Amino acid sequence: MTDSTNTAAHAPVFRPGLLDGQVALVTGGGTGIGLGISELLAELGAHVVIASRKPEHLDAALAGITSRGHKASIVPLDVRDPERVKAVVNDIAEAHGRIDLLVNNAAGNFYSPSATLSPNAWKAVVEIDLYGTFYCSQAVYPIMATQGGGRIVSTSMTLHYRGWPLMAHATAAKAGVDALTKTLAVEWAPERIRVNAIAPGPIPTEGVRKAFTPPAASGVPDVFAAAEEKMAEYARKGIPLGRWGSPRDIANMVAFLASPAGDWITGGIFVIDGGEWLAKAQP
Ligand code: COA
Repeated sequence: MTDSTNTAAHAPVFRPGLLDGQVALVTGGGTGIGLGISELLAELGAHVVIASRKPEHLDAALAGITSRGHKASIVPLDVRDPERVKAVVNDIAEAHGRIDLLVNNAAGNFYSPSATLSPNAWKAVVEIDLYGTFYCSQAVYPIMATQGGGRIVSTSMTLHYRGWPLMAHATAAKAGVDALTKTLAVEWAPERIRVNAIAPGPIPTEGVRKAFTPPAASGVPDVFAAAEEKMAEYARKGIPLGRWGSPRDIANMVAFLASPAGDWITGGIFVIDGGEWLAKAQP
């Protein structure tokens, strides 16, 4: 089998219409990995509601998806506001009659020494990554339970599998997302709500590059260094499968979990990283 770069330019690996009739909510779905997920779900027939704090991200995402003849709508949302989350989720259920899939993709991140991380900086990241995931999951629960089931896919990471300096806030939050995923999977299985998480490896989107630029002289490797030759060298040496990931690599797993193939999968945390974290774990 030949390798692929697996970008959105490649033909979908799933059958057309796989997600016809589904309604999906993707938080942070206007850019980067979230946009890749929104695009693939829409391509496969779902109506995708894209939520983001930033209106400019929403407008561009909507235009891109609908111009290709796919179904989407947009809603401004800060996942840190539980009342607004509930209102948005209820509006979607009212407009579409159901919500089949929630993708908790919204996240915030930046490198900062823990010793000087301000309370507000800690709060900002933990509230977006962990509290937001809980608020959105809790809001869709009654809708999914009433309609006879649903799927929740939350975005985790791999950095908390080891120590990762300067990211106490994000690693703590994502460890919480993992725990939440396992607990909700068991608690909500009777309602046939499948709860899983994905743990993306290095995907050089604009947001990720910004969030993962370590302070100079911090000793943390700048794997997203802009220079192309440094990027290529990192892929060769640091990623066993030898290439960087793309949003489509991550989106494919979400589509799989949203499809009937995901019927018996719950509580899983799926690492999609070309083997990167395991290789780093070698002595
Ligand atoms: N280093 C240290 N502190 C930082 C910081 C950085 N790079 N960026 C933000 N903060 C601090 C702020 O100083 C503020 O704390 P203070 O009030 O004590 O000064 C606190 O975090 C909140 O900042 P603010 O800009 O008001 O946050 P926000 O809620 O508007 O934005 C963030 C959320 C902080 C996560 C922001 O980084 C963001 O939106 N990032 C883009 C999305 C992203 O990170 N995606 C992740 C891709 S992996």
